[in-house]
Amino acid sequence: MSTLSFQDTIINTILPQITTRIERNIQQYGNQFPSYGDGNRKYNLTANENWLASFWSGLLWLLCTQDDRVCETALKLLPSFEERLDKKIRLNHDLGFIFTLSARAAYQLTGDAAARQLALRGADVLYQRYNPAGQYIQAWGEIDDPAQAGRFIIDCMMNLPLLFWAHTETGEQKYYDAAINHARTSQQYLLREDGSSYHTYYLNPETGEAIGAKTHQGYADDSLWSRGQAWAVYGFPMVAEWTGESEFIDTAKKAAGRYLHDAPLTDVVPWDLRLPQNEPAYPDSSADAITAGGLLRLADLTGDTSYRHHAESLLHMLYKQAFDTREDAQGLLRHGTQHAPHGYGIDTYTIFGDYFFLEALLKLAGNTVDFWSPDIKKDTK
Ligand code: GLY
Repeated sequence: MSTLSFQDTIINTILPQITTRIERNIQQYGNQFPSYGDGNRKYNLTANENWLASFWSGLLWLLCTQDDRVCETALKLLPSFEERLDKKIRLNHDLGFIFTLSARAAYQLTGDAAARQLALRGADVLYQRYNPAGQYIQAWGEIDDPAQAGRFIIDCMMNLPLLFWAHTETGEQKYYDAAINHARTSQQYLLREDGSSYHTYYLNPETGEAIGAKTHQGYADDSLWSRGQAWAVYGFPMVAEWTGESEFIDTAKKAAGRYLHDAPLTDVVPWDLRLPQNEPAYPDSSADAITAGGLLRLADLTGDTSYRHHAESLLHMLYKQAFDTREDAQGLLRHGTQHAPHGYGIDTYTIFGDYFFLEALLKLAGNTVDFWSPDIKKDTK
């Protein structure tokens, strides 16, 4: 594959196909949100009630930079995100995903003041999950739930940009401190010496004392859940962008090195990279798409073009092996896995896989849209 020819394919073939598909999906979904696939050509649709809802919104905001007609649909989704805050519908650490890809994206592209306020409200509710004794953001459950109070997870790296952004918007230091402290705690406890990651970790919520690692979506506590590793590869460069601290680049390089060493790269990665031989190795295309996005960030941060080459190869592999070319398909990437241990969303579309695939393709095509980065003004339409 030459870089130029893949870039041409993205611009002339893949992006037009995606735009047509998403415009058709808008008509089919109404006010519902795609979550994961039905194993064939369709998505399962839900109300705005889980972390997945943000990716449909984010995907529309990405496409809004290509096609003005999509912006209106994305804006119309905002009241449902406001309702989630008002009614406290499944609010946990995923608030970062949820309000980065809805209200913050809306503000970034339109300058809408109400969207800014909504994103700041989301950030403030996220901040309330910060545990000062352990210096982490509690992942799940109510703050006073003794079973969940000490738990933080690698996915939460993706929720930090909302807090950093709230700091730049309001000047309130507490948001910055919570985000950087959480990143350091994650570095200390979730990253292993060899650059691989635990999915979740418990500290004593009163004293911050270490208790131990436990998986939720991986095969075992000491295995390597592929998407968790992808969140690390994407998350640590983002923290480096917001803070300018080189320690986070070092961690990102270690995490990326582990993924590039352990994943097949010429085929879709299995959902866990440390599976016993007799376990079904369901593919997870979302992990490869997220990793590609992280590698593109790392290339920009370090100037090391090998990260960009790896990202392009991963995206090309995904295009060849997972992109759904069927005329009436709703999803973009097949072969994603949402939750293998709980047995749902196996080897099918995932809306977050679609989001990160499109985000990375747009970047390769030269589009500068970036909802996670500090530079809020550069994408204004
Ligand atoms: N953040 C949940 C997941 O990656 O499935």
